[in-house]
Amino acid sequence: MSVNIAIDGPAGAGKSTLARKAAEKLGYIYVDTGALYRTVGLYSIRKGYDTKDAEKVISTLDDIDIKLGFTDEGQRVYLNGEDVSEAIRTPEASMGASNVSAVPKVREFLFDLQKQIAKNNDCLMDGRDIGTVVLPDAQVKIFLTASPETRAKRRYDELVLKGSDVTYQEVLDDLIKRDYQDTHREIAPLKAADDAEIVDTSDFTFDESLDAILAVIAKKL
Ligand code: DC
Repeated sequence: MSVNIAIDGPAGAGKSTLARKAAEKLGYIYVDTGALYRTVGLYSIRKGYDTKDAEKVISTLDDIDIKLGFTDEGQRVYLNGEDVSEAIRTPEASMGASNVSAVPKVREFLFDLQKQIAKNNDCLMDGRDIGTVVLPDAQVKIFLTASPETRAKRRYDELVLKGSDVTYQEVLDDLIKRDYQDTHREIAPLKAADDAEIVDTSDFTFDESLDAILAVIAKKL
C-alpha cells in the first residue's frame, strides 16, 4: 500500500513550498491539487466565461483533459496537452480556481484523478479537502495555517519577486475573500480533519516550519 500524507490549509500558508521540500526529503512525489482547480478556472477564463457561473463552468468539463506530470523540478500540469504550469499562477486564475472549486461537479470531475495518483504513489498531497474528503485514510494529516497577515506578506513578497505590481493590501483583501469562500462553501469546505495535526507557522521561519512538518510525519509513520 502506498504512503499518503495529506496537507491542507488556507491560501498562502506556505503549503506548496513546504510540502514540496518535505516530499523531496522523503523521496515521495508532491501533488499540488490546487493546480487542478486553477486549470479548470483558467479554461473558463480563456473562454471568456464568468467563473462564478456554475452552468458555464460545468459545460467546459467535457472539453477538458487534465494530466499531471512529475519531474525532478516538481509537478507540471497539462491542459489538453498544453503545459499551463505557469499560466495558472496569476491572481485571476487564483480567484477563478476558488470560484470553480465551489461547484460540486468540478470537485467530482477532479476526484478520481487525485485518488488514482495517491493509490499508485507514495505521495504528499496538498489542498483544502485532502484529509477530509479525498484521502480520509491518509496515514498522516497535517493542517498548515498562519495568520492572514503573515500569509499575505509571504504571497506579496513572492509576487513582487516575479515582477508583479500588486499592493500588499490587494493581496491581503484577495486572500481574506478566498479564505471566506473556501471555508464557507457547501461542498468540501476548508477545515481541519478531526485527526489532523495543526501546525501554525505564523512565528516560524521556513526551516522551522519544515522541521515541524517532518516531526509530525516522523511521529505518525
Ligand atoms: O492551493 P491553491 O491556492 O493553488 O488553490 C487554488 C484554489 O483551489 C483555492 O482557492 C481553493 C481551491 N482548492 C480546493 O478547493 N481544493 C483543493 N484540494 C485545492 C484547492
